[in-house]
Amino acid sequence: MFNSFPENLQHAFDIIVFNPPYLPSSHIINDDNRKKIDSSWDGGFTGFDILLDFLKKAKNYLNLKNQHYIYFVSSSRTNLTILNNQIEKLGFKNEIVDRKHVFFEDIVLNRLS
Ligand SMILES: C[S@@+](CC[C@H](N)C(=O)[O-])C[C@H]1O[C@@H](n2cnc3c(N)ncnc32)[C@H](O)[C@@H]1O
Repeated sequence: MFNSFPENLQHAFDIIVFNPPYLPSSHIINDDNRKKIDSSWDGGFTGFDILLDFLKKAKNYLNLKNQHYIYFVSSSRTNLTILNNQIEKLGFKNEIVDRKHVFFEDIVLNRLS
């Protein structure tokens, strides 16, 4: 996920913003019919698989000497209680900054510190 980031960017960021693919995988998508565009919304089985992968690596890019935050978007179509437990296990505190109902879901703006 951070493969193209040079080493000198490690611990360089006070704020990282991520708009990940955040919806749970559809049961009609499999390895045979998966299209490239599906990566724009498909967050894996839970909907937050990509986000958790990102968070594990993002810590290396935060400037831990300053106050630092990660903003990211999640959906009410995922289990936000399980997501918050996972976030706490990774050592972050999550705060919901805003929430907006759009079409079939609430889009949630989260801030981790
Ligand atoms: C909801 S879209 C957001 C796109 C863009 N940030 C924007 O706001 O227009 C999610 C993006 O995550 C990318 N993505 C999916 N899986 C990824 C991964 N494993 N590593 C990095 N990016 C990924 C997708 O290609 C897609 O561009």
